[in-house]
Amino acid sequence: MSDESRPSPASNPVAAVIPAAGRGVRLGPGAPKALRALNGTPMLIHAVRALAASRHVALVIVVAPPDGAAEVKSLLDAHALPDRTDFLVVPGGDSRQESVRLGLDALPPEYGIVLVHDAARPLVPVDTVDAVIEAVRDGAAAVVPALPLADTVKEVEPAAEPDAPEPVVATPERARLRAVQTPQGFDRATLVRAHESVGDQVTDDASMVEQLGVTVVAVPGHEEAFKVTRPLDLVLAEAVLARRRLNDGF
Ligand code: CTP
Ligand code: MG
Repeated sequence: MSDESRPSPASNPVAAVIPAAGRGVRLGPGAPKALRALNGTPMLIHAVRALAASRHVALVIVVAPPDGAAEVKSLLDAHALPDRTDFLVVPGGDSRQESVRLGLDALPPEYGIVLVHDAARPLVPVDTVDAVIEAVRDGAAAVVPALPLADTVKEVEPAAEPDAPEPVVATPERARLRAVQTPQGFDRATLVRAHESVGDQVTDDASMVEQLGVTVVAVPGHEEAFKVTRPLDLVLAEAVLARRRLNDGF
């Protein structure tokens, strides 16, 4: 493509894929995690609104539990969402990465930038979403929001028995470590290539791009972009929503 015919970066439309097909085993028994309510609204709806809150995001693709696409479609219909955003729902797969791949398969050709965002991070602020988009538009092939760690991290030799003592093998320097969140933002072609050529045994999309040898950059994340994983995280999420409601009231 010549420079004249290349769309200007700012006009390159952005789509978001939201994997929401997980069971939420660590949260305990109940509905699939993304369908559980936070202050009366399904977690997935919070996550969709958080991404659609960015005026750059023109399309949101929700990857639903494999047998739950119809239910997710009716949830999207039943909740107020921005008119300027299009929504698609596709059924997910057995692993997070398979679910992301199924979402990417549904991505129309005009989208050159894609975000991947966990439904399990329902409270990410729009400023974080926009910071990721801006870094991709500025030329990064892959961008992750990341925070410094509070805890010191040890590498161990995992024990075969649950709760058995585990030998510590290393302590990486904490100042160089970051906890990585979503949305992660990508040049679409790079992410698709990563999903076509890198194995599934990863916990995020950026690490697949790293395995291609492509540079991934980190921008500041946000503490409200935490992942709802265990029961205590539900308490925290509802407290954040209550604080927002209080602040909005003033
Ligand atoms: N996910 C998905 N498809 C899967 C597994 C996970 O779309 N087969 C999604 C989840 O819905 C979630 C995101 O990936 O939004 C991050 O995964 P995680 O927090 O691990 O959620 P679950 O896999 O649902 O939780 P758990 O691992 O406790 O079962
Ligand atoms: Mg999981």
